[in-house]
Parts: sequence; C-alpha cells; structure tokens
Amino acid sequence: MEAKIRKIQELKKEKNAVIMAHYYVPDEVQDIADYVGDSYYLSEMATKVDAEIIVLCGVSFMGESAKILNTEKKVLLPAADADCPMAHMADTERIAEVREEYEDVAVVCYVNSTAELKAASDVCVTSSNALKIVKALPNQNIFFIPDQNLAHYIADQIPEKNFIFNDGFCHVHHNVRKDQILAAREAKPEALVLVHPECRPEVTELADYVGSTSGIINYATESDAKEFIISTEMGVFHELQKRNPDKKFYTAGNVQICPNMKKISLDKVIASLENEETQVEMDAELIHEAHAPMKRMLELSK
Ligand code: 13P
Ligand code: SF4
Repeated sequence: MEAKIRKIQELKKEKNAVIMAHYYVPDEVQDIADYVGDSYYLSEMATKVDAEIIVLCGVSFMGESAKILNTEKKVLLPAADADCPMAHMADTERIAEVREEYEDVAVVCYVNSTAELKAASDVCVTSSNALKIVKALPNQNIFFIPDQNLAHYIADQIPEKNFIFNDGFCHVHHNVRKDQILAAREAKPEALVLVHPECRPEVTELADYVGSTSGIINYATESDAKEFIISTEMGVFHELQKRNPDKKFYTAGNVQICPNMKKISLDKVIASLENEETQVEMDAELIHEAHAPMKRMLELSK
C-alpha cells in the first residue's frame, strides 16, 4: 500500500495531475485524492484547479461533467466501465414531447445523467443545489430528469410549481425501505436519521436531515448528537468517522453499496496516470450543448 501511494505521488508530480474523488469510492482512494467531495464540489473544483490532468475517481458522468467544464484539460477515468445506471434513465424523445406539450417548461437535469441528456436540458442541478435552483427558475412547469425521488423531494417544497416526473432512480438509495429506517430507529432511539434525497419519499419523510453526501457529513460533524443512522452509500462512513472519531454511525438496516463506485482502486489510479487512460472524449458539439446547462448551474448556485 505504501509503495502504491508513493508511486501515485510521483506520477502526479511528473504529469502535473490532480486527483479528485467522490465520497463513495473505496477509502484508500479517498485518502490519496487532492479533493474529495460531493458531486457539486467536484464539478466546481474542476473549473478551479490548475493542472493539466484531472483524474476523476468516480463514475463516468462525473468525468464527463469535469470535461464539459474544462475542455482544455485531460480528464481521466481510472475505471472507464464505472457507469451510473440512473444516468441513462431518461430519454431525449420524452424531453422533446414534454417541450411540445408545455409552453412554459424548464427541463431540469440532475448531474447524474449522460452528456446527451444534459445537452437536451435547460439547467443542471446536484442534490446540494436543486432546491435553490428550481426555486429561482422563472418557469411554471418543471420536467425533472432522471431521478424521481429527488424530483419529489424538491416538488414537495415548491408547491407553487407544476412538476412533471420521470421514472429514473438510483438502485442503491431506492432500495432503502421505510420499515428498515423504523427498525434502525427503534434499535438506536438516540440516533438522528440522515438521508440522501435519492431515497424514496417515505424514507426522506422520516429523516431528521436530508442532504447531499457533503451535507450529511457536515450535519453530523456540526451536530451535538452522538449517534446517527445514515441512509446513503457506505463510502461516506470513512469521512464521517475521520471527522468524528467519538461519534457512532449506523447503516439504515442493509448495507448500501454502489458497485460502480467500488470499481476504482489504487492500481487503477496508477495505471490511469501511467498510461493517461481512459480519457473522457466527447464531440465538440455535444460538449458545447452540455456546457450551457452546467454553467447555468454554477451561476445559479452561487
Ligand atoms: P452527491 O455527492 O452530490 O450527494 O451525489 C450522490 C450520488 O449519488 C453520486 O453518485
Ligand atoms: Fe449512480 Fe446511485 Fe451509484 Fe450514485 S450511488 S453512482 S446515483 S448508482
């Protein structure tokens, strides 16, 4: 392990590279990253870092987002097959139909989506800024893709707008059931329940706090409570425990693991830096079209 970490440090210097990682990747990969964060933080940092290469330890839509915002940089995905199934759970034909059907509509695209879906949308959002951005949109009708659960969580808080829902979901978060949260709470009555908005509405309803991965980590860190039931992917436990060695964190019954995020390893980071692979490549027109909604997200979330 030590030798691998040293090798990564050497390669980073030699190649003028930075390593970014999402909180769901394996612990040892989070530990070697220069920047670890939620989807919004990673998108924002991608526009700020001064390096020739960004190694994005996450799933492919994260690499695409970094590339869309940084055409001049090389963006590498250590595990090119790490794909998020939800990123494909919408289609551009349906977007065109909704645009025909509703005059005053904004197509709001969760960043967990392909570049093609982003390009067909009006604005992108992440779990940490979706509420703020949708509230600020002038449009009466909101077609929210691809995640049905985040859409419902936002819609409930903006009753004055008309939401058109899509049927996408994240299998990791959608699998958490209300009865599991109730049982976890009964087992640990002192614990606060912290939930990601990709969970079902009947699960978010039971939460003491709903937020992105960073939101959950910050909330637990700032809270006076000592015990927490965490309803999101297990990767966040690493940062939660690092920042809060005296607090206790429990899963919401089952173990929530994203198999795609777990495809990234130290060996793959080394190979990625050595061979400068797998580069995120998209055609210029697609990048151009997907850039506007991503840029609008960065502006509206300020
Ligand atoms: P956030 O880190 O933005 O909360 O995203 C969660 C997620 O599912 C990323 O794949
Ligand atoms: Fe996609 Fe869910 Fe995995 Fe995030 S946790 S990458 S939304 S499958």
